[in-house]
Amino acid sequence: MMTQTSPCLSKVFRLGWSGSGMLCASLHIIIIATTAMIMSVSATPPADPITCTSNGCTTTNSYGAFPDRSTCKVGAAAYPTSEEELVWVVGNATRSKRKMKVVTRFSHSIPKLVCPGGEEGLLVSTKYMTRIVRVDQEGMRMSVEGGVTLRQLIEEAAKAGMALPYAPYWWGLTVGGMLGTGAHGSSLWGKGSAVHDYVEAMRIVIPGGPEDGYARIRTLDVNANSSHAEMDAVKVSLGVLGVISQVTLKLQPLFKRSLTYSIMGDSNLGEQASSFGNQHEFADIMWYPSQQKAVYRIDDRVNLNASGNGLYDFTPFRSTLSLILALLRSTEELQESLNDADGKCNGAKLISSTLESFAYGLTNNGIIFTGYPVIGYHNRLQSSGTCLDSLQDDLITACPWDPRVKGEFFHQTTFSVGLSMVKSFIEDIQQLIALEPKALCGVELYNGILMRYVKASSAYLGKQEDAVDFDITYYRSKDPLSPRLYEDVLEEIEQMALFKYDALPHWGKNRNLAFDGVIKRYKNAQEFFKVKEMYDPLGLFSSEWTDQVLGLKEGASMVRDGCALEGLCICSQDAHCAPNKGYFCRPGKVYKEARVCTRISSKT
Ligand SMILES: Cc1cc2nc3c(=O)[nH]c(=O)nc-3n(C[C@H](O)[C@H](O)[C@H](O)COP(=O)(O)OP(=O)(O)OC[C@H]3O[C@@H](n4cnc5c(N)ncnc54)[C@H](O)[C@@H]3O)c2cc1C
Ligand SMILES: *[C@@H]1O[C@H](CO)[C@@H](O)[C@H](O)[C@H]1NC(C)=O
Ligand SMILES: *[C@@H]1O[C@H](CO)[C@@H](O)[C@H](O)[C@H]1NC(C)=O
Ligand SMILES: *[C@@H]1O[C@H](CO)[C@@H](O)[C@H](O)[C@H]1NC(C)=O
Repeated sequence: MMTQTSPCLSKVFRLGWSGSGMLCASLHIIIIATTAMIMSVSATPPADPITCTSNGCTTTNSYGAFPDRSTCKVGAAAYPTSEEELVWVVGNATRSKRKMKVVTRFSHSIPKLVCPGGEEGLLVSTKYMTRIVRVDQEGMRMSVEGGVTLRQLIEEAAKAGMALPYAPYWWGLTVGGMLGTGAHGSSLWGKGSAVHDYVEAMRIVIPGGPEDGYARIRTLDVNANSSHAEMDAVKVSLGVLGVISQVTLKLQPLFKRSLTYSIMGDSNLGEQASSFGNQHEFADIMWYPSQQKAVYRIDDRVNLNASGNGLYDFTPFRSTLSLILALLRSTEELQESLNDADGKCNGAKLISSTLESFAYGLTNNGIIFTGYPVIGYHNRLQSSGTCLDSLQDDLITACPWDPRVKGEFFHQTTFSVGLSMVKSFIEDIQQLIALEPKALCGVELYNGILMRYVKASSAYLGKQEDAVDFDITYYRSKDPLSPRLYEDVLEEIEQMALFKYDALPHWGKNRNLAFDGVIKRYKNAQEFFKVKEMYDPLGLFSSEWTDQVLGLKEGASMVRDGCALEGLCICSQDAHCAPNKGYFCRPGKVYKEARVCTRISSKT
């Protein structure tokens, strides 16, 4: 899934909630001016997620905060530059039974996947494992090291006239990380949208015994009669099986696409969402439930001779002036503190209409948007992330969620609901919105609910059936004990998805409660554990968190005062919410089995 960050510039509009045409017009000029400035100012790349001193190292994710806000202390970090060095690093750590975890260049997963067990653990960085190992145009395959980013993969494949047909929408992910968490784009065609379903071969470095220098390389290849069990385990591994050193992906000849966004009312969305994915190869839907509209991405392959050189530089993934990020965050904080739902709703409308008029960052030729359809080469449209670009480190601009500046800070609730139940799930949400019309304006500030298609996978920890993945991003306070506007509705949707519709959470996103008992929904989990036992019997690549997620240890939840506010638990008593701020633990409104933190105002 992808992070749905708000179109930062357009958020300035929120300051104009008085709705005055004059104000909006002058703000529009500000926006155009700042857009021009941003284009001329260099961006700041995200920080390295590892910080070391003489006392050891700490690490975090790209947002600077895990769901429980703990910090991850480790003993040391290693930066192998080749598979040979990697084998040595894993062997050396295995000899002393030291816990390990792979950390990537940016570390984008929200849950605490990156922390090795114990404070003496070793981080194995793939930052320098970024080589393209082999380009096989005849066989339409490409082999890359585990630290190669999606951006690099797309660019190198395109140079050889090839393409990965489906991919996440954000350039900053690494091949190892995408496999680690089952990352995907949107499609029901071919083998579906998950990157791991295009893997043909892998090399993974695992712990060994004294006879092999304490580390071994397993080579898996679908064309060489490798064990399917090992393939299906390593394809989505949460990093607990070892270090993926190399991955060979099956590609296709580079092609062109034609993309049109079509905006409609959402009254028949449930019906539409169930069939839309079968109608268009790259279909997805952005849903704005409080505005009662949906933006359908009508997106298909076209002939190579179709004219157009379109480019997708998704606006929320561009670098943004830190000054503006701070302004926007302050506005959101103010709206939260004043319970200003109308302010959020007005802001959401302005943002979505602005994004719409900027075509979400699409241009027909790399410079200007002149109208739909946008036709272009796949590699220029499939994902983006220009805020990763950098020439200097001044923090004048940054990715909107860069923790070094005051900017976006959010929760992401992301899960897939089986295709056959999507209609009913959407209608439940609509029923909730009928009761609380303004409840999801806050989500719309982060570009609404992104709905993407994913297919069942043979990977043991992959999707169990064809499904729609719902990606919901919303305000997170800097204060873990501070409730948010319409907290109850957001929690009810989360619990409804997970427990009424048996949804599967994205491994690289979500709050702790989403992972409690989740392993029961994976029918081949036992097969995964067999491979885990074979590869890493001492559990050197496992941590308390991965043991909890995999159900090998109790409780991904953390029950304590205020725990429901951060999704560390489902409330069972008022103390789990914020009774002193008027938020009490109550049943859901549509899904009565839910237990959610509801604001009870004494006056109304
Ligand atoms: C802006 C943004 C947009 C996003 N868009 C999407 C999207 O469109 N679709 C989607 O599905 N997800 C999306 N995500 C979430 C993302 O897919 C996952 O969090 C992703 O897997 C993280 O990749 P990473 O390279 O940062 O890996 P990390 O988060 O660093 O690592 C993930 C796990 O994999 C393990 N791992 C990493 N490399 C290796 C290796 N070589 N060998 C063994 N284990 C390894 C790590 O130890 C860890 O357990 C997005 C995230 C962000 C921040
Ligand atoms: C090898 O492992 C030992 C024991 O864990 C550790 O002290 C040493 O620093 C490691 N060497 C390197 C180069 O990582
Ligand atoms: C493939 O593997 C199976 C079982 O592992 C074995 O029986 C068979 O002979 C192998 N085939 C080839 C061509 O190696
Ligand atoms: C484009 O190519 C297709 C076949 O590949 C052909 O049928 C079509 O006529 C071509 N169109 C143009 C405008 O050349």
